[in-house]
Amino acid sequence: MKRIGVLTSGGDAPGMNAAVRAVVRKAIFHELDVYGVYNGFEGLMEGNIKKMELGSVGDIIQRGGTILYSARSMDFKTDKGQKIAIEQMKKFGIEGLIVIGGDGSFRGAQKLTEKGFPCIGVPGTIDNDIPGTDYTIGFDTALNTIVDAVDKIRDTATSHERTYVIEVMGRDAGDLALWAGLANGAESVIIPEKQESFESVVAKLKRGQVRGKKHSIIILAEGIGSGMDYGKRIEEETKMDTRVTVLGHIQRGGSPSGYDRVLASRLGAKAVDLLMDGIGGRMVGIQNNVVVSHDFSEILDKKHEINMNMYELSNQLSI
Ligand code: F6P
Repeated sequence: MKRIGVLTSGGDAPGMNAAVRAVVRKAIFHELDVYGVYNGFEGLMEGNIKKMELGSVGDIIQRGGTILYSARSMDFKTDKGQKIAIEQMKKFGIEGLIVIGGDGSFRGAQKLTEKGFPCIGVPGTIDNDIPGTDYTIGFDTALNTIVDAVDKIRDTATSHERTYVIEVMGRDAGDLALWAGLANGAESVIIPEKQESFESVVAKLKRGQVRGKKHSIIILAEGIGSGMDYGKRIEEETKMDTRVTVLGHIQRGGSPSGYDRVLASRLGAKAVDLLMDGIGGRMVGIQNNVVVSHDFSEILDKKHEINMNMYELSNQLSI
């Protein structure tokens, strides 16, 4: 393989730039040409593709977002869209593609691979919802953003003796809520994978009130539904002064943590190695601190599981 491409797709995540940098630098180290595809699969179909040099990725390892931009493309989901994308890559002489994104992006990469165009996936999403890797790029940074925000909310929650419901991201996944719940010492963690009953959440709040607790924090994953509605129900049921904060897209931005930069560098470099070995149709990941890879079919047929021991621990520590 002499020439490869790289794109970012789906929701952006801090550390995507570090992954792009690793792909570009590792490719150039091995004397490959590397092309950046702008705007994800949408840009791929349009031929929005430019050659990258060592300097193209200078000064980006610390930057959030993605210098290649990102998009969610409907047209690319069609057979026609995928064929157009392959034609574009052929025009540029690109022989393999690295896709940095989440499971939706890997479905696209899998389709291209099935059509004879080798792709490697690099997991980049704050949700940490992809099987086959212990962590996705961006999760650690987003977690720390949440931890910092909840610490601040706790200050005012104590001053005013209030209950807070804090809605965090995670469309179908509770990892951000669960980890933040443990890290912030939340009273309850409400996640899609394991629903604590409303009655039990209320009972815990009331027990805390009897013990003289000055505030309570409930962390809710957006996949469960509206934090606003949940907060209203809590206030109605407990008569406690309750406020809701929806953290929203603040969780997706910011400078990547040291962990995310290192993870992105390791995974981006491994993706290049695989393409150089003529391998496509796989996603790279980290398991037990070892860089691994799995066939797309293994990843996309499975559902990410949360760590139930951590969930239990969170409950035990918040009695
Ligand atoms: O997948 C990452 C994520 O941030 C989810 O947690 C969230 O539900 C979704 O993206 C939001 O997507 P958008 O930015 O398109 O509204």
